[in-house]
Amino acid sequence: MAAWEAEKARTVCVTGAGGYLGSWLVKLLLSRHYTVHATLRNPEDEKYVHLKKLDKAAENLKLFKADLLDYNSISAAIRGCDGVFHVASPVPSGSVPNPEVELVEPAVKGTLNVLKACSEANVKRVVAVSSVAAVVVSPNRHKGEIIDETCWSDGEYCKTTNNWYCYSKTVAESEALQYAKETGLDVLTVCPSFVLGPMLQHDVNASSLALIKLLKEGYEEIENKFRDMVDVRDVAEALLLVYGRPEAEGRYICSSHLTTTKDTVEILRKNYPNYKYPKRFIEVKDDQGRGNVSSGKLQRLGWRYRPVEETLVDSVESYQQAGILD
Ligand SMILES: NC(=O)c1ccc[n+]([C@@H]2O[C@H](COP(=O)([O-])OP(=O)(O)OC[C@H]3O[C@@H](n4cnc5c(N)ncnc54)[C@H](OP(=O)(O)O)[C@@H]3O)[C@@H](O)[C@H]2O)c1
Repeated sequence: MAAWEAEKARTVCVTGAGGYLGSWLVKLLLSRHYTVHATLRNPEDEKYVHLKKLDKAAENLKLFKADLLDYNSISAAIRGCDGVFHVASPVPSGSVPNPEVELVEPAVKGTLNVLKACSEANVKRVVAVSSVAAVVVSPNRHKGEIIDETCWSDGEYCKTTNNWYCYSKTVAESEALQYAKETGLDVLTVCPSFVLGPMLQHDVNASSLALIKLLKEGYEEIENKFRDMVDVRDVAEALLLVYGRPEAEGRYICSSHLTTTKDTVEILRKNYPNYKYPKRFIEVKDDQGRGNVSSGKLQRLGWRYRPVEETLVDSVESYQQAGILD
């Protein structure tokens, strides 16, 4: 980008603004005096009331009814924006009967609709949220391998192992970067690992649900999996950081801590002894593709993150406040 002037690029669009990450990003942008065009599938829905209550929402937040598969609705939200944060993508918390339609199409076609609308509106920079799901999943990873932005998940392998979410994120991100190459649109991608931390939104999202289950289900036994993790507030900061830095380019892995299920439970138990934690942990022999993702590129840009204990404690406090946990 020849003359990137983030200071002037103050009107931005956030797709999927009412979701878990989208809500934190909108809050951060409003606190930094941005004007935000927020896309929601149904702005009238009571579940989005938290957005309207954010500081500066009355002056600087504009809600747009938009579906990723409806080009005109996306285009109307993006028109007049200097920058776009493309956050929306389906994140399932259970089985998905028709993954091509429910996951892949909104992720891939939705991303291309957003990018096309950005080109049409002369948007200066797009930051698209991908995932480490687009980075780590491959049968060819070897133990101890450092996984950085040069690594891609193997789409065919994701498909044959029915890992449709990973497939949707892998194809969506690679097509976004290909589109950027072909058109010259300035597109950056950020690949967070497993996102935890307090919720602002009403409906429980998939990653928060996984943590809530660890506190509530009282599993007899559970696999002790490796998991790379990052705080939702630190992801929002990362998105804004890359947006504002002229030298930023390409992909950024955004992950702060490598934990195991057992370590996570121990931290939770120390702070909240009375929940129904898993009773036994089964060691996993080959927890493929986990454990060595590097956020070095993002850290060299100045990204910092909070301790994992703060993330877990703040998560539980937010579930308690929402009445999801006693
Ligand atoms: N949570 C994680 O652990 C994690 C990790 C890595 C990457 N990510 C990525 O982060 C992004 C946000 O995920 P999240 O965790 O915040 O989940 P979330 O709360 O479920 O948010 C997903 C958002 O996508 C929107 N969406 C889905 N399909 C859509 C469609 N057809 N048209 C318009 N909007 C649509 C949803 O809108 P509605 O509000 O209308 O349902 C929702 O706002 C996603 O791109 C996800 O892949 C998440």
